[in-house]
Amino acid sequence: MTKKIAFFDSGIGGLTVLHKALQQFPEESYIYYADTLHVPYGTKSADEVRGYILGCIEAIARQNVEAIVIACNTATSLAVSELRSRYDIPIIGMEPAVKPAVEMNRDNGKRVLVFATALTLSQSKYNELVSRVDDEHRVDSLALPELVEWCEQLQFDPVTIAAYFRSKLSRLDMEQYGTVVMGCTHYPFFSSILRGVLPDHVQIVDGSAGTVNHLKQRLVLQTLRHDTGGGIGKQEDVTFLSSSGRIEDQRKMRIALHYLKENSL
Ligand code: SIN
Repeated sequence: MTKKIAFFDSGIGGLTVLHKALQQFPEESYIYYADTLHVPYGTKSADEVRGYILGCIEAIARQNVEAIVIACNTATSLAVSELRSRYDIPIIGMEPAVKPAVEMNRDNGKRVLVFATALTLSQSKYNELVSRVDDEHRVDSLALPELVEWCEQLQFDPVTIAAYFRSKLSRLDMEQYGTVVMGCTHYPFFSSILRGVLPDHVQIVDGSAGTVNHLKQRLVLQTLRHDTGGGIGKQEDVTFLSSSGRIEDQRKMRIALHYLKENSL
C-alpha cells in the first residue's frame, strides 16, 4: 500500500500548502492533521507550543507516513530541527519567503513587509534568516493574530477583513514597499482581500510553493517517483485528522479546502 504524505498545522492554515501539493500531485495520498485542541499557536509561549507539536508529530508518525510537512511557520521555527533529529522520514518545514522577496526588490529600493505570528517573529530561526538575507535592512514585520482566529472561524467577510488590513497598515507608507510576505500559512486565505487593499505595485508572496517544491525534491530523491504533472487520475485522497478527534473539525477542514479551491487561492 502506498504510504501517505502528512501535512501538519495548528489548525486549518496548512491547507493552503496542502492545496498547492494537491494541484501538483493529485495522485498522492495525504493526511492532514490539525492541532485543533491548541490552535492558535502564535500567541502562546514557545515551551507550551513545542510540547503540543511533539505530541502531534508522534501521533502522525504512528500512521506510518512517507514524509511530514510542517505546514505551519510557527511550528517550523520552534521544532523542525528537533523533529528531524527524532525521525528518520523526511520532515519538510516552512520558511517565510523573505529571501525571494528581498531579491525581488534588490534593484528598486523598495522595502519588504513580513506578516507572521508574534511567536515566529520572536524566534532565532526567523531573525537569523533576516540577518542572512537582508543586508540593506529593508525588511519590516507585523503580527496579525486576528487573521488566525478569523480563519479558524471560517470568517472570510471581505468588508471586515479589508477594514482590518487598512487599520493595521495605516501607519505604514505602502508606497515604500515592493512585497508583502505571508509568513503564516493561515494568512494566504486572505490574500485576495489584501490584494484589494494594497497599491497595485506591491506583490504578495508566500512560502507554500517553495515547500511543495522541497517535498518534491525529497520524495523524488528517495523514491525516484515519476512526476504526474498534475491532471488526470483518481479522486483526491485526503484523510483529515485532528488532536481533538471531533467530527466537526473534519467538516471545517473540508469546507476550508473547498474555499481555497473555489477562490483560486
Ligand atoms: C497559529 O496557530 O497561530 C498560526 C500558526 C502559523 O501558521 O504560523
